[in-house]
Amino acid sequence: MAASRATGLTVAVTGPTGEIGKPFIAALERTREVSRILGMARRPFDPGAHGWKKTEYRRGDVLDRAAVESLVAGADVVVHLAFVILGAGDGSRHVNIEGSRNVFEAAAAAKAKRVVYASSVAAYGFPDGGGLITEDVPALGHPRHPYSAHKAEVEEVLDEALAGSGTDAYVFRPCIVAGPQAPLLVNQIPYVRLSGRLPGAVRALFDQVPVLRPVIPDPGVPFQLVHHDDVASALKAGVLGRGEPGAYNLAGAGEITMRDLADELGYYTVPVPDLAVEATAEVVARLPFLPDEATWIEAVRRPVLMDTAKARRLLRWRPRHDARETLHETVAAARGDLQPA
Ligand SMILES: NC(=O)c1ccc[n+]([C@@H]2O[C@H](COP(=O)([O-])OP(=O)(O)OC[C@H]3O[C@@H](n4cnc5c(N)ncnc54)[C@H](OP(=O)(O)O)[C@@H]3O)[C@@H](O)[C@H]2O)c1
Repeated sequence: MAASRATGLTVAVTGPTGEIGKPFIAALERTREVSRILGMARRPFDPGAHGWKKTEYRRGDVLDRAAVESLVAGADVVVHLAFVILGAGDGSRHVNIEGSRNVFEAAAAAKAKRVVYASSVAAYGFPDGGGLITEDVPALGHPRHPYSAHKAEVEEVLDEALAGSGTDAYVFRPCIVAGPQAPLLVNQIPYVRLSGRLPGAVRALFDQVPVLRPVIPDPGVPFQLVHHDDVASALKAGVLGRGEPGAYNLAGAGEITMRDLADELGYYTVPVPDLAVEATAEVVARLPFLPDEATWIEAVRRPVLMDTAKARRLLRWRPRHDARETLHETVAAARGDLQPA
């Protein structure tokens, strides 16, 4: 360990196998200042299969404090990506809140130089009020959206855990992350989920017969996208301690709507008037037995757009992909996955 500290940074990463984790590790693998990467998630994973040479992987749960302490021992920087995104209801609270607390407290106890944490635009809680959200807006979360509430609470947990320690925190708040390795956006559209389960021949029919083309609702609300490689470059800036510690919004240039997404997919959209979205959200809020995913309606009720000037100014962050390019790449990759076998 002493040798690796002398030659470069040792970086411990929770959740290195996810949509952000894989492109991020690939970026760290190419970073001269990083000599050793230790990754931990629950399922089996082979870093060698991805051509990663500096990365050692171990299986472990962030809820297991001893496993977390062992992961971060001797790390210069601890990056926390492990989280439950979909299905972030009460059942996942312990992973998101207590798991994160374990990671942050262990990082401070191990005297890591920095913690880099991937929070989210959702931490702001989808505030009303128009205009671009800057990092000065308090991250209060949304009481009806568990993921948003968890994201806000975890930022507080981070402050508590690092208070009085010598460990700095870089907190990144990306908008929806997309790109060829991040199909979550496309996969969460209900039709796509259904079509993925259809036999190949039936799916081919759906693709060819225009009248059967799927329809997705478009509330007309603009949203931002950020490419996973651009998130990776921002996280990397945090790992290297560029600029100064603090919170940073991340979004690619430009905005899109569900209509743009449907156009890319070759789907139809039906406009959903504001009132219908509002009414649906009210209904969702009153039905505790609905799946957690339904609470995502909160995310499309009103525009939630972020200002990214701070990351550009202090971290010299230069996202290479705008929203439309990111959308195009995401759909092109997802379309390949949806082709009939
Ligand atoms: N994707 C987005 O659009 C987006 C946008 C904004 C912010 N973020 C944030 O960025 C972070 C990473 O997101 P992602 O998209 O990469 O998520 P993801 O694709 O769902 O990956 C989650 C990662 O965490 C691991 N994990 C989950 N539970 C764990 C546990 N109990 N112990 C150890 N590892 C665990 C998973 O592996 P195993 O399941 O094998 O354990 C996987 O490596 C999250 O904090 C997320 O909230 C994501």
